[in-house]
Amino acid sequence: MYYIALYHTHKLVITLFILIYLVKFFLLMAGKDKTLESFSARIKIPEIVVSSLFLITGVLLLLETAEIRGLFVAKIIVVILSVPIALKAYKIKNKALASLSFLMIIGAYGMAEMNKSKIIHPQALPKDVVTDASDPAYDMVIHGKALYDTQCVSCHGADGTLQMSGAKNLHYSKMTENQIVERINMGKMTMPPYDDFFTNYEKKAISNYILSLQDN
Ligand code: HEC
Repeated sequence: MYYIALYHTHKLVITLFILIYLVKFFLLMAGKDKTLESFSARIKIPEIVVSSLFLITGVLLLLETAEIRGLFVAKIIVVILSVPIALKAYKIKNKALASLSFLMIIGAYGMAEMNKSKIIHPQALPKDVVTDASDPAYDMVIHGKALYDTQCVSCHGADGTLQMSGAKNLHYSKMTENQIVERINMGKMTMPPYDDFFTNYEKKAISNYILSLQDN
């Protein structure tokens, strides 16, 4: 619950931040210096509130995030770098610098969205796990657990109780096999969609493992 509230607050604050920035950017580019000055003066307090919330919710989210890598790191660096550039740009009313900082902020937003599917990293199963259903030693739940261990542990934990990145405790899940397969396919919020990643058979195996975790 905490993570979800934080996640949505962060998104809302970013939207407000970008809107304020967009107005300023437009005024600067249009050469409306007087209007820019009076807008900047009037928006000052809300802007401080929005920027602080942006920072605070961002740091709090970071602490709850299961995996920090790739574009996620790039996004944070770009956002941090854009701040001094933006401050300087509006101080000296430089259009090139303002455009640069604007591109950086929009680019960081795009990276955050793209990072979602990049979070899936293929990983081999341990050699002793039987994956051939026609083998007499085959056990669907063991197969499912092995697949789960490669992709799901970072958020849901080895036993399904971890709740990183807003994940749900799988012991309390009441989903049916089909509903779990659907969730694996589509993902939700920070959970990436594994639609093309697993075969239908693998999705079924993982779902059966999750059913075995549920305390009914
Ligand atoms: C990056 C984090 C992350 C990863 C990795 C992840 N999940 Fe999730 N998972 C979530 C989040 C967040 C939710 C809660 C979504 C919501 O309902 O708001 C969730 C919810 C679920 C649910 C629904 C539980 C319920 O009853 O509501 C299932 C089932 C599930 N995940 C299975 C998996 C499986 C299987 C994998 C691996 C293939 C996986 N998850 C990988 C974050 C993750």
